[in-house]
Amino acid sequence: MRQLIAGNWKMNGLLAEALGLAGDVAAGAEGLSCDLLVCPPATVIEPVVAELAGAPIAVGGQDCHQAASGAHTGDVSAAMLRDAGATWVILGHSERRTNHAETDALVRAKVAAAVAAGLAPIVCVGETEAERLAGQQESVVGAQLAGSLPAGFAGVVAYEPVWAIGTGRTATEADVAAMHGFIRAVLLRHLGAAGRGVRILYGGSVKASNAASLLALPEVGGALVGGASLVAADFLAIARAALP
Ligand code: 13P
Repeated sequence: MRQLIAGNWKMNGLLAEALGLAGDVAAGAEGLSCDLLVCPPATVIEPVVAELAGAPIAVGGQDCHQAASGAHTGDVSAAMLRDAGATWVILGHSERRTNHAETDALVRAKVAAAVAAGLAPIVCVGETEAERLAGQQESVVGAQLAGSLPAGFAGVVAYEPVWAIGTGRTATEADVAAMHGFIRAVLLRHLGAAGRGVRILYGGSVKASNAASLLALPEVGGALVGGASLVAADFLAIARAALP
């Protein structure tokens, strides 16, 4: 399966910046051997989709509400993201789990809502630094997967150790390989043979200089990129490092 290189722009990008970044990514996106995705803020999804028309780049949201519609002031439904032209959505990012107290059960409900609206979900899991220092990374990530993935899950999982996000500290190659192997085993246990088709992205301080070695590791199906996805040249360099 082709590797997926996904850019999570987080809360960055007023209209002019977002259009400039999308246009610069599109200008260098032809002929890549990976799937490419950008996840801008919800407010600019529709113009970014228009800017990327004809380019081999999908657009996703960064979160959605678990309900289809209703009295949820300030929230965005999966169908609204789809309506704006998104085809993917990131769910359960550690910043959502921390800043908005999102639980595994809530993430699971959001995954179901996303799939019902026709969006492909990327479900994020990952341990904190304290949990890793206590040797709990497998039990934490195993519980997140068991709680966050609905039966029949057919999306993408992103392993993002919390301590590697935005810190410049990347997990070691050995740690990434070990965790991705562990996640694959959990997926096969929960989903049966279908678990083999779930791409497992690595996220956490991925940059042009470390992308090739991370993307070459076993069971790494792509990258979820934060900071480096805000610079088109850096994001494209990561995409060019994907396996053919
Ligand atoms: P950084 O690449 O900035 O570490 O962010 C990773 C991330 O959180 C992607 O979702």
